[in-house]
Amino acid sequence: MNILITAGPTREPIDPVRFLTNKSSGKMGYAIAHAAADASHRVILISGPTQLDVPDRVDYIPVETTAEMYAVVEHWIGKADVAIFSAAVADYRPAQVPDHKIKKSGETMTLELVRNPDILGSARNAFDYRGVLVGFAAETENLEDNAREKLERKGCDLVVANDVSRKDIGFDSNDNEVLLVYPDHSEGVEKGSKHHLGHIILEKALELVPPS
Ligand code: PMT
Repeated sequence: MNILITAGPTREPIDPVRFLTNKSSGKMGYAIAHAAADASHRVILISGPTQLDVPDRVDYIPVETTAEMYAVVEHWIGKADVAIFSAAVADYRPAQVPDHKIKKSGETMTLELVRNPDILGSARNAFDYRGVLVGFAAETENLEDNAREKLERKGCDLVVANDVSRKDIGFDSNDNEVLLVYPDHSEGVEKGSKHHLGHIILEKALELVPPS
């Protein structure tokens, strides 16, 4: 199978030396990429900046901004049987990025942000993707309801929801605990290493591939 995975954070420049980002380490997405490569699938890993080693036998495409991730996903997704979006993508970016370092001036400073494109939300319509589509949902409340809303709005077959208000799972920890939200039911996966959950998430995604 051809498996496309997004992972890690995106970085949105404010000026040449500053950026907006988030706490994603890439561990969750890289664990899925490891599991897929170990099972001899062809993997395209599209990743924002992380400290992790690139898994062996993976086609790795590094990106920084959401716009770059969008363009790379748009280019490659048509080849994928399964696409898994674990990246923590910035919803907004600075409206203007000067080519010089911003100097401090007044006591306060206002940064105007504009919406970024929704990459996962573009898969079904803008990219015309017909394969298995797996999104993630990073939530701090109403985990199942919010994940189900994302599943429906973004046309996913499965959404992997995690509670990112907890310190022992989610962003940057070695463990995770997820709720798998399908169109007709949900099932919990108990807390375990991201390595272990990577195998389970991959397996659950592959179960959704129609028999050829
Ligand atoms: O990287 P780690 O430190 O291991 O942490 C793992 C994780 C917490 C980042 C991961 O498990 C996770 O929850 N990833 C999704 C983070 C996120 O951006 O969630 P969201 O609920 O804001 O977005 C919903 C979905 O839309 C996600 O699949 C996201 O990749 C996608 N999205 C969001 C915004 C956008 N502009 N484009 C997108 O594709």
